[in-house]
Amino acid sequence: MTTTRTIPGIRSAKRRDGAEPLVMVTAYDAPSARVATEADVDVILVGDSLAMVVLGYDDTLQVSIDDIAYHVAAVCRAEPTAVVVGDLPWMSFHVSTTDTVHNGATLIRAGASCVKLEGGAKRVPMVDALISAEIPVMGHIGLTPQSANVMGGFKVQAKEAEAAHRMVDDARALQEAGCFAIVIEGVPDTVGKMVTEALDVPTIGIGAGGDTDGQVLVYHDVIGLENRFKPKFVRRYGTAFEDQARALSCYATDVRTAAFPGPDETYKAADQLNEALGLYGSEPAPQ
Ligand code: KIV
Repeated sequence: MTTTRTIPGIRSAKRRDGAEPLVMVTAYDAPSARVATEADVDVILVGDSLAMVVLGYDDTLQVSIDDIAYHVAAVCRAEPTAVVVGDLPWMSFHVSTTDTVHNGATLIRAGASCVKLEGGAKRVPMVDALISAEIPVMGHIGLTPQSANVMGGFKVQAKEAEAAHRMVDDARALQEAGCFAIVIEGVPDTVGKMVTEALDVPTIGIGAGGDTDGQVLVYHDVIGLENRFKPKFVRRYGTAFEDQARALSCYATDVRTAAFPGPDETYKAADQLNEALGLYGSEPAPQ
C-alpha cells in the first residue's frame, strides 16, 4: 500500500532528523506517472527537461508554461500518490511577480501541488509572491539548465570556495523566503553536503553527491530510454531503449511474415455470419 505524500511531509524529511532519503523522479505523462506510483516514489517532477528528453530539443528553453501544464495534467490523471511538482519554465517567472503568480496558478490548476523555479537569492521576490498566493515552492540552485547560455554550457558549479559560500547564501535566502525543499544540481559533493547542513528544509540532489536529503533523476535516464548521452551523475537501472526496440522489431517481423495477428488476436466471425455473407470460414462457401 502506497501512502499519499504531502508538502508538509516532504518539508520535514531531513535525514539528520532520522528521515529516509527522498526519492524524486521526473515524469511527463500518465503511464510514467503510473510506473512512478507503482515504485512508490515521494515526488514526481514534471520538469522542463521535457524539452530535451521528450520533445527532442537541445536545451530546456523551448518549453512554455502551457507545455508544462499539458504534461502536468497528463501526469495527474494517473492519480499519483507522490507530490507533483510543476516546473516553471524559462521566462515564466523572469518578467514580473504578477506573471509568476499567474503562471504558477496555471500549473496548480493543471493538477500540480507546488512549483519549482531555478535561481538563488534573486528569485526571492518571485518566491514571496507565489507563497503569498498559497503556492508552495521548491527551489533549484547550482547547475540551473535555464541559465546554460550564461554559464557557458551544462557545467559543474561552485568549484571554488567563494562560489560555494555564495551557494549556501542563495539556499538560505530561498529557505527564508519559504521554499519547502531545494534541488541542488551539478556541484561537488562537499558543496552538496555544506548546503544540506546549512538548511532546515530538505535538499534533493542531482549530481550533488550522496549527502543531500534526497535524490532526483530524469525518468528516461533511470529506465535507460535515453541511451545517447550519460552524464556522470546518472545511474541507469534499465535498458528500456533496447527492450522497446527489440519488441518493435519482433512486431515488425511478425507483421512482415504474416505471423501477426494469429488466432489469439483475431475476432473470429461466427459461422452464422460467414454463411450470411456467403463465406465459409475465410473461404467462399462451397457451391
Ligand atoms: O527539469 C528537470 O528535469 C529538472 C531536474 C533535473 C531537477 O529540473
